[in-house]
Amino acid sequence: MSVKVAPSVLSADFGKLAEEVEMAAGAGAELLHLDVMDGHFVPNLTFGPIIVKAIRSLTVLPLETHLMITDPDKYLDNFIDAGADTIYSHLEAFEPSNRHERATAILNRLEDAGVARGIAVNPDTPAEWIYPYLGQLENVLIMTVYPGFGGQEFIAECLDKIALLKEEAGRLGTEITIGVDGGVNLDTAILVVEAGADILVAGSAVFHAPDPSHVISQLRNI
Ligand code: DX5
Ligand code: ZN
Repeated sequence: MSVKVAPSVLSADFGKLAEEVEMAAGAGAELLHLDVMDGHFVPNLTFGPIIVKAIRSLTVLPLETHLMITDPDKYLDNFIDAGADTIYSHLEAFEPSNRHERATAILNRLEDAGVARGIAVNPDTPAEWIYPYLGQLENVLIMTVYPGFGGQEFIAECLDKIALLKEEAGRLGTEITIGVDGGVNLDTAILVVEAGADILVAGSAVFHAPDPSHVISQLRNI
């Protein structure tokens, strides 16, 4: 199976979002990646469910919604109702004392809603944090930058988590789709694919390129 590309609209021109989304679909992107930031979990603000809903109305591409927010449980229904197909919450958003309870409740609510269940982890979070959820989720998002901004430098060491997760999933007899997010470009993508990722998230490498659709097709063919 070849790698799927999920352009992150964080780096798109929001003044012409419809054209950007159409370009991504026309270039063969399999998914769109939507970065939701609350100015609290990460030091940046982006958009919420209103924009997710607007993008939903623009495309039939699956929308993977990456919640970089402190209380994903509080806003989960808003993103489900907005039409997200996959929702990732960060394990680091939760206090250790109730992390497992909150993460499990979110995954259960997503399953009930028919939304693909995702968990995202920061660069310094070990793969082992995800092991308890294998079998209860479809998607894992490995951050290869500290979340908050597009255009940061790729942290290659994070890729080691992919093999660990695939091995553990295999041992448990379950399947997971692994995405890699942050600093993915035409130079780093080969490392990500070699490490076994299923989805490449790319923001600035796509939308800041002179020919974004060419970059999408090159990423897809890696
Ligand atoms: C970073 C976001 C990413 C971001 C990636 O916090 O989660 O999805 O858009 O941007 P690039 O590809 O420019 O690193
Ligand atoms: Zn993201």
